[in-house]
Amino acid sequence: MAGGTGLAGRDVVAEALRRGYQVRVLSRNIPTPDQQAFRHGAEYVRADVVSGEGLSQALSGVDVVIDTLDGRTGKARKFLSTGAANLTAAAAGAGVKRAVLLSIVNVDQGPLAYYRAKAAQERAYSDSATNTVIVRAAQFHNLVAGIACAASKARLFISLRGVSFQPIATTDVARALLDVATTAELPDGGMVTVGGPDVIPMREAAEACREHAGGKGRIVTVPVPGSVGRFFREGRMLTPGDPFGTVKFKDWLELQPR
Ligand SMILES: NC(=O)c1ccc[n+]([C@@H]2O[C@H](COP(=O)([O-])OP(=O)(O)OC[C@H]3O[C@@H](n4cnc5c(N)ncnc54)[C@H](OP(=O)(O)O)[C@@H]3O)[C@@H](O)[C@H]2O)c1
Repeated sequence: MAGGTGLAGRDVVAEALRRGYQVRVLSRNIPTPDQQAFRHGAEYVRADVVSGEGLSQALSGVDVVIDTLDGRTGKARKFLSTGAANLTAAAAGAGVKRAVLLSIVNVDQGPLAYYRAKAAQERAYSDSATNTVIVRAAQFHNLVAGIACAASKARLFISLRGVSFQPIATTDVARALLDVATTAELPDGGMVTVGGPDVIPMREAAEACREHAGGKGRIVTVPVPGSVGRFFREGRMLTPGDPFGTVKFKDWLELQPR
């Protein structure tokens, strides 16, 4: 498991342990049992996908690699494709049977620099010698709440004009990753797309955040300019068809600290 100390990765580790699998997490920083990233029952080993340090030891004896790595700053973004190339090469060398990468819905069409870095990461997987499945997920509940509740301390709740998301809980993303990691058949085209149970207009997300914060405050509607705004307003982050996720945004928010 690469990225198993991160937000989504921790839920993947928990889901894999719950299903009875042995889990080894590679990380640059090994968590101690008192830390949030630690999951009892997982093995943690130090490795860095960019430098390659510790990779072959981390992958020795592994059947399936799940990658939920991330890097958001300019320099770190570059590491996504380098890391993917290093990780898949080491996986092929170690005889890993399958790799599963977490990506984003329509990432190859998105106008953000971050999307381009993720698309390059996907290509590194597709071009690799390892059997790969890419799971493209809609935005996490955390991300939508991160926007809508960003100024909650100032009693302002942010809506994006004309934008709806279909957010998904990281626990549902973890189920999807484990399903494709363990199923006998690879999905058509080596890719699956998963979204949350509901399409939520940002106004509704902002109202839910206000409710969560005690019900007081003003909703501020912000326009999203340019090609990013168009991408959002056209609903290119949505996943039409049967939803995969079961945890609704409001129910998830209810469980978050106030
Ligand atoms: N946020 C969303 O709405 C959304 C939606 C769909 C898909 N996704 C995708 O979900 C993935 C996971 O996101 P997240 O928010 O869970 O990420 P995160 O919390 O930032 O976690 C990133 C992980 O990457 C690891 N990492 C970074 N550099 C590393 C390196 N050089 N070597 C080894 N490990 C390294 C970190 O481990 P250490 O620091 O412990 O080494 C950490 O476990 C991303 O790829 C993102 O594109 C996100």
